[in-house]
Parts: sequence; C-alpha cells; structure tokens
Amino acid sequence: MTSRSAIRFWFRGELQVIEDFQPTETVLDFLRLRQSACGTKEGCAEGDCGACTVAVVRPVGEELRIEAVNACIQFLGTLDGSVLFTVEDLKMEGDELHPVQAAMVKHHGSQCGFCTPGIVMSLFAQTHQNRPADRAELEDCLAGNLCRCTGYKPILDAGIDATAVATDTAEIYRETISEIHDEGELLAGDEGRFFAAPTCKSSLLKLVAEHPDATLFSGATDVGLWHTKLFRKLPKLIYLGRVKELLAIDESAHELRLGGAVSYERARGAFGALDSDIEELIRRLGSTQVRNAGTIGGNIANGSPIGDTPPILIALGASITLESIRGARTLPLEDFFIEYGKQDRAADEVLTEIIVPKLSHSQRFRCFKLAKRYDQDISSVMTGFCFTIEEGKIVESKLAFGGMAGTPKRATNTEAALRGKTLEEACSLVENLSSDFVPMDDHRASADYRMISAQNLLKKALIELSEEEKVATRLKPREAIHA
Ligand SMILES: Cc1cc2nc3c(=O)[nH]c(=O)nc-3n(C[C@H](O)[C@H](O)[C@H](O)COP(=O)(O)OP(=O)(O)OC[C@H]3O[C@@H](n4cnc5c(N)ncnc54)[C@H](O)[C@@H]3O)c2cc1C
Ligand code: FES
Ligand code: FES
Repeated sequence: MTSRSAIRFWFRGELQVIEDFQPTETVLDFLRLRQSACGTKEGCAEGDCGACTVAVVRPVGEELRIEAVNACIQFLGTLDGSVLFTVEDLKMEGDELHPVQAAMVKHHGSQCGFCTPGIVMSLFAQTHQNRPADRAELEDCLAGNLCRCTGYKPILDAGIDATAVATDTAEIYRETISEIHDEGELLAGDEGRFFAAPTCKSSLLKLVAEHPDATLFSGATDVGLWHTKLFRKLPKLIYLGRVKELLAIDESAHELRLGGAVSYERARGAFGALDSDIEELIRRLGSTQVRNAGTIGGNIANGSPIGDTPPILIALGASITLESIRGARTLPLEDFFIEYGKQDRAADEVLTEIIVPKLSHSQRFRCFKLAKRYDQDISSVMTGFCFTIEEGKIVESKLAFGGMAGTPKRATNTEAALRGKTLEEACSLVENLSSDFVPMDDHRASADYRMISAQNLLKKALIELSEEEKVATRLKPREAIHA
C-alpha cells in the first residue's frame, strides 16, 4: 500500500498539496489564516451557530457526497481527497450571482450579514439534492444556521426559490475528484506528532497498536471541541473516515450492520426502515452539519450519559464489535458502558461495527427525546423502549434511558415489574423507575424533573402502544375476511 505524507484537495480550482500542518489545524484556520478567505465566519467555534459552514464534496465508497460541514471543528486533514467550497467560490461569470445568492438578495434574506455566508453554503449544498425543497426540508437544512437579525421567513423563501431553479448534483465533481482519489494511506508528520488517515482496517489496527496514545476520531463533533474549547493537546490524530470497512452499511432480513465510522446522515434512512421514531430522532440530532460529520460510532465511543443513540440501540438489543491486532470481540452495547467516563475498550481497540437486530413481529418500539429545544439540542432525558408482547401480555421489555445515570442504562427493576402485565396494567407501574435510577442534577435539568419526565415518557409509550394494540385487535376480524 502506497503512503503519502501530504494531504491533497481541490480549492478554488487549484490542487492544494500540504505537508506542513498541525494535526489539529481546522479548515476554518486554513481558510482565514492561510488563505485570507475571510468570507467564512467564526461565531461560536463549537459547531453550534453555522457561521463557518462550508461545502465539501467527497467520495464515500462509490457514492459522491456534497455535504455542509462546520469548518470550525473540522480538521484540515479530513479534506484529503475532496473538493472544498466556500461562499467566495459561488461567484459565477461576470457579476452574475449564484441562484442561492440571487434568491437571498431578492427575498431580503440578510441584514447584518454575519450568518449569511453560512446560510448560503447550507442552501448551496441543499441545491445538490437536485430537486425543489419544501419548507420542512429547508427548516431541517438550516437548523444549524443561527440568524439573530433577519428572521427565517425571508431566508426560507430564498431557499424555496433557489432549490427550484438550481439543479446541480455532486456527480459533476466526479472527474475532478478522480484526479486525486487513491487508496493510499496518509501519514503527515513524524512519530511524535502526526495526522494519519488509513484506508483499510488492517492498517488502522496496526497503527493504533503502534500508537495506543493517539486520538481516534471520525466526525470530530466532540474531538474538534476538545481542541477549540478545551485547548487540549492532541499531537497524534488518527482519522477513521477513510477506512472502507468502517464506512459500510449492510442490511439483512434480521439485522442492520453499521461500520464504526458511518455518519448519522448516512445511517438515517437505514434506521428509518427499522422504525420511523428513530429516523425522526436522528433528524432532531444536532444539525445537518453535525449529522453529516458525526457518527453513531462516536456517539457510543465517547461514553456520554446523554448521547441520543445509545438508549435506542440498547433497547433494540444492539451489540458492538471492538477490534485490535489481538483480535475481535463482540459484546452487548449495554455492557460497554461501565460507569461515568469508563467504557469497556482497551487503548488499542477500535469500535468497528454496530449490529442492530430488526424488530420481530411481536415487538413494539418507541423512543422519545426530551430537550429544551425541539431541534439541535442535547437531551435532558432520552429514552428507548422495546416491548415483546405475546397474547396481550408483556413477556419481555428493554427500557433504556439516557440522562438518568452516569451511563446510558436499562431500568431492570421496572422491566421485571412489567413482566406478565398488559400494556394498560403496566401504566400504573411507571413509578418503579425511582428504584432504578438516581438521576443526574445539572444545568440541563434537575433530578426531580428527569425522574418525573422519565416516568411520564414511559407511561406515554405504554398508553400509545396499548391504544395501537386495541385498534389492531378490533381490525383483526376484518383483516381475516379480506385475507
Ligand atoms: C453542535 C453540536 C450538536 C450536537 N448535538 C447532539 C445531539 O443532539 N445528540 C447527541 O447525542 N450528540 C450531539 N452532539 C455530540 C456529537 O455529535 C456526538 O457525540 C457524535 O456522535 C460524535 O461522533 P463523532 O464521529 O463526531 O465523534 P468524534 O468527535 O470523532 O469522537 C468522539 C469520541 O469517540 C471516539 N471514537 C470515535 N469513533 C470511534 C471508533 N470507531 N472507535 C473507537 N473510538 C472512537 C473518539 O476517540 C472520541 O473519544 C452534538 C455536537 C455538536 C458539536
Ligand atoms: S463558528 Fe459556529 S459553528 Fe462554526
Ligand atoms: S443577518 Fe445578522 S445574524 Fe443573520
């Protein structure tokens, strides 16, 4: 396997070949400090405001994706093999504006203008969907772009106009990308300080074994903030986003298998096929920019007690595979979380796969996210509930919660209390949750609020499912007639 020591990507029609860079140099620093390309703004430097949004075209397997990402928390090395677009690159022939820019002018979508470059870039990426977007889609597209003065109506109107006329696809960049695309490994730096991007699992595991002190990362929607907000020294970075095995999504009749570096946005459709609640949850997770970069693997490996996906995955009975050069092991996801800040992962192990069983005929699922804002907010309480119902009784349940303990955790006492009960009978048993949890008490929510909410969310699931069961039972005779 060939190895390179310089990153290569396209920017403003020129091939950038950069060997000398700090592993933690961000795309935003590259733009503003190296290129004096100051159209891309810095607001929060933590992925929240979207002022720094840029668009990146990159291959993921056979697919070519154009994605809006937050330049402030993306490390420069992740651009290897891609094309980078900023607001200054949208200029057309002469004085002609790009359709997104023209629509923003027409609808008065900008006042002070600080958020405008980011908003334009989010809409630019959206135009590559190659179809008109409706208001709901545009609200999603812009959930990670904060505007303090214009108000969103004119901006959404501009988005509707722009996506109606602009019909680009990421495919138009395939030839440009193919000029720099290779299977070569990247290792920029030296033994003590480097940015590495292996392309296959065996090279990754070898590198991690040689450098167990290195920081692994995929979307950097956590790790990026360790640099910009916590000022942590991260001299050795290993990027997982080019390892082909970790990018795979495989679906069979019984399960879904996601590689350890599959982004939320790529996983969204596959999860939707499992249960529509999960797709809606992922739609609410972070913003478009965060979902394009952030991964389910990162959401698990960071060990956070308030990550959105672990409670859902635990309720579904998911397991994960951890691999090192010593071998591979698969464990139930719930066993991965040992205590706050401690997970069952050795320094040389990589989370390579997440295995999610599909719901069986007798299983019913619900998940709820409780946060201060509906979109783009961290959960106060997150729940995933899966009930196995036979002859009208709960024979098994998995009730998993985030925000209720130092780790994502199942309510095993309540699960035992629910066994053998009907969904309706179980409604009176939700107070058992106080025997399972002593919830966290912090700036997001008090312990009392968390406990009462958790009980109410469980009751809500039971009531909803019990009503569904009643309707299904009432329908049965008619179904039989039609059969
Ligand atoms: C603006 C913003 C909004 C957010 N909103 C939400 C939200 O609504 N809900 C939510 O749950 N989270 C949210 N997050 C947090 C974040 O998006 C998630 O935790 C995300 O899943 C992390 O994935 P990543 O690929 O970016 O991880 P990274 O930052 O790349 O890595 C996170 C951690 O996991 C480790 N790691 C990553 N992949 C692997 C692997 N395959 N094997 C071993 N270790 C690995 C890294 O070493 C690091 O310790 C938000 C973050 C931001 C910046
Ligand atoms: S500066 Fe706010 S998201 Fe990047
Ligand atoms: S135009 Fe001022 S913040 Fe949006």
